[in-house]
Amino acid sequence: MPERSLRAFMEQLANKGELIQIEEEVDPKFEIPGVLRILDEQGGPAAVFDSPKGYSVKAVGNILGKRNRLAMAMDIEDKELIEEYLRRKKHPIPSKLVSDGPVKEVVIKHDIDILRFFPVATYSEKDSNPYLTSGVVLVKNPVSGNQTMGLHRMQVLGQNRLTVLLLNPPVSLFYQQNEERNEPLEVAIAIGLDPLFMFSTVAWMPEGGDKLELVGSLYGEPVEMVQAETVDLNVPAHAEIVLEGKILPHIREKDGPFGESSGYYVPYESPVVEIETVTHRENPYFQVLCPCSNEAFSLLVSWEAEMLKKLRGKFPEVRHLNLVPETVGAHAVVSVKKASRGMKRQMMTYFLADNASIKRVVVVDDDVDVYNQREVEWALATRFQADMDLVVLSDLIGFPLDPSTKADYLTAKMGLDATKPIDDDGKFEKICVPSDVLNKMQTLLDRYCKKT
Ligand SMILES: Cc1cc2nc3c(=O)[nH]c(=O)nc-3n(C[C@H](O)[C@H](O)[C@H](O)COP(=O)(O)O)c2cc1C
Repeated sequence: MPERSLRAFMEQLANKGELIQIEEEVDPKFEIPGVLRILDEQGGPAAVFDSPKGYSVKAVGNILGKRNRLAMAMDIEDKELIEEYLRRKKHPIPSKLVSDGPVKEVVIKHDIDILRFFPVATYSEKDSNPYLTSGVVLVKNPVSGNQTMGLHRMQVLGQNRLTVLLLNPPVSLFYQQNEERNEPLEVAIAIGLDPLFMFSTVAWMPEGGDKLELVGSLYGEPVEMVQAETVDLNVPAHAEIVLEGKILPHIREKDGPFGESSGYYVPYESPVVEIETVTHRENPYFQVLCPCSNEAFSLLVSWEAEMLKKLRGKFPEVRHLNLVPETVGAHAVVSVKKASRGMKRQMMTYFLADNASIKRVVVVDDDVDVYNQREVEWALATRFQADMDLVVLSDLIGFPLDPSTKADYLTAKMGLDATKPIDDDGKFEKICVPSDVLNKMQTLLDRYCKKT
């Protein structure tokens, strides 16, 4: 089996022409994020920065800038992603502890200075400091002793001190439990991981489960872990970089402003991490992840999968679901098989009420591709009547990162039924070239495209 690591995936991308190498000096302050923003907008390749200004360590970004790269990591077609994720997830594979791994090639226990070691990026104009945005925080459940993880933004305050934004469990919960006992929480922060590991870190698992076992289920083999140097945790053996340390109890520092995934600056007061040990591979790659990017959104495909599974459980007519990436997942498109008007209104109402992050849902027929914005707009333009097909719900619980929410994050939501009437008399039939002819012509065209 090939190595499961960021660099192995970069090689895969390079072989497919989806990785560019930038040799010129580029500054981690704004310039690297600037390049990545442009690539993100264009649906462009991943990029390696050979010479971040002031550093010998290379940076890499936009790894999952297109969702098909996640499918590539799973060795499947893009359209199989959701169903294949749900299928593999049913077969968890525990991690394997190995005696050594490349992440231990270099071990540093003194004079730690994160900003001197690594090209940590400053992303947006008003960000307070450079931020680690791709750091997977590994922790141990103080009760069960099992390890788990989460992705958390970390501000570099200087030398070995960081702030860590703890809004979500499990890390926030374990930190709170330790803080009540006046104890620090040991953490290992892994940077530069294979995309399926990153993806599993933020996987939404409503039925519970072990995220390291999820990594194994997506790999089809155990993820290899090694014992950390100074904390009682196992760390991914093939990570590029690991920072080991403790989140201190009862200390808060200003965290931000920082340009968040909502596209706005968000300030917090956050706990402080003290790093005691740094380990890394020889010539490590430092991973940069732009907030509010397609890459950040690609990591949330599991949310789409879980929402779809639940929605199908309640409404068997549901076929597909797309959380529109440009809207940070606030807008959704759901396709349904022929269904009554009442069922569609009920489904929209249920879906909007059940998911705080969803603010708008468009329902389309199954002759519309939910991932094709042009087709969705066409359905809205030709099958939707605002005075009959609109559902508006006031003052439901919304998403805290949406600045337009009212007090207590209350928000208005809407459902748009852009389906044709159930007793369609043929006037809604979509025009098309016969599919066998279209396939034949695609094959013909492929030959011409390859020649040029
Ligand atoms: C790109 C990205 C950035 C995130 N940043 C943070 C963060 O800074 N703080 C936080 O508490 N959660 C953050 N999250 C969410 C958590 O990592 C996520 O909730 C965590 O993995 C726990 O998942 P679970 O509660 O479903 O187990 C982020 C998620 C993504 C996709």
